[in-house]
Amino acid sequence: MTINSKLPHVGTTIFSVMSALANEHGAINLSQGFPDFAASEYLLERLNHHATSGRNQYAPMNGIPELREAIADLVRACYGRQINPDLEVTLTSGATEALFVAVQAVIRPGDNVILLDPAYDSYEPAITLAGGNCTRLALMPPHYQPDWQQIEDSIKPTTRLIMVNSPHNPTATAFTDKDWRELERIAEKHNLLVISDEVYEHIVFERERNSAHRYPALAARSFVVSSFGKTFHVTGWKLGYCVAPAALSEEFRKVHQFVTFTSFTPAQYAVADMLVEQGNTVHELANFYQDKRDCFVEAMQGSRFKLLPSAGTYFVLADYSELSDDNDLDYCQRLTREHGVAAIPLSVFYETPPESRIVRFCFAKREQTLIDAANRLKAL
Ligand SMILES: Cc1ncc(COP(=O)(O)O)c(C=O)c1O
Repeated sequence: MTINSKLPHVGTTIFSVMSALANEHGAINLSQGFPDFAASEYLLERLNHHATSGRNQYAPMNGIPELREAIADLVRACYGRQINPDLEVTLTSGATEALFVAVQAVIRPGDNVILLDPAYDSYEPAITLAGGNCTRLALMPPHYQPDWQQIEDSIKPTTRLIMVNSPHNPTATAFTDKDWRELERIAEKHNLLVISDEVYEHIVFERERNSAHRYPALAARSFVVSSFGKTFHVTGWKLGYCVAPAALSEEFRKVHQFVTFTSFTPAQYAVADMLVEQGNTVHELANFYQDKRDCFVEAMQGSRFKLLPSAGTYFVLADYSELSDDNDLDYCQRLTREHGVAAIPLSVFYETPPESRIVRFCFAKREQTLIDAANRLKAL
């Protein structure tokens, strides 16, 4: 049978490809973004507690009330925004589900969506499946700053949505107050909806956390998406959430109920306990990762990679143009096979990649892992 694929250009994600290559060659895996250290013992104990005390059946479709309330408290504490936990918060199976559901909820065939490249790889397929099309604008090295004039100029009569991500994977940049204000201005002026992917919201360095939550006119037209996988070092739990005004949340929930309906119940209870009893860990996350960033940057001193600044996320970009003329995909594969360190090429996140030789390293790793990787990289 011939299949007429709905996603003819989609292959296996680069994260799976590079992690598989790293495993095959026994390389240190600084490619896919996941920690190689344990989550909090308290969190794991709570998961065990709730699973063994019988909380194993379907949770309410929107998420358990305890967790939605804890999220509303967190949003208020971090950004001063009051949200209604019953009407405006929905738990999802990872941020990936929330992003997918938000797109399906609002995009119709023929609608246009603006993406800023390098864009996380799940965005475009979600839009394509909804029948939408993308305008992909490139953020350019070395600063990867959005050009708001170019963004505004690219808006068409069919443009309905803009998707942004701050702190940004893979460039490790973060929106400034001016960026958020420009986004707010443009979204209001052109009546756009916004999906604000903030999965790394708590991991920002040498600056305050910022979010679409802080800008009322922006928040009023945004799906703000976050992930406990990133915040609590449990990416495999796939627990995320979406905060949106009641009318948008209502549409979001109509889709969510037929995608997953609900998310892993014991994890919801465990994370609710964690937020209530050990909420400080969220506010300490930036320092925790800043130490790891600094450890890696210091260990890389003297290498021929040129590290770019990392203002947030647990990634740092490295320019390898002194080391090779290979394109970044070939270079990452060679680095993994021949030198035992896996990284992620940047070009795969672009529609039209700029001429650059830049790869992404993940520093969500134990210090020894980072030092071992840096020693291998320094030998080049
Ligand atoms: C920018 C961005 N958005 C979304 C996700 C997906 O998050 P989750 O694992 O919670 O689905 C990731 C994970 O790497 C990410 O980097």
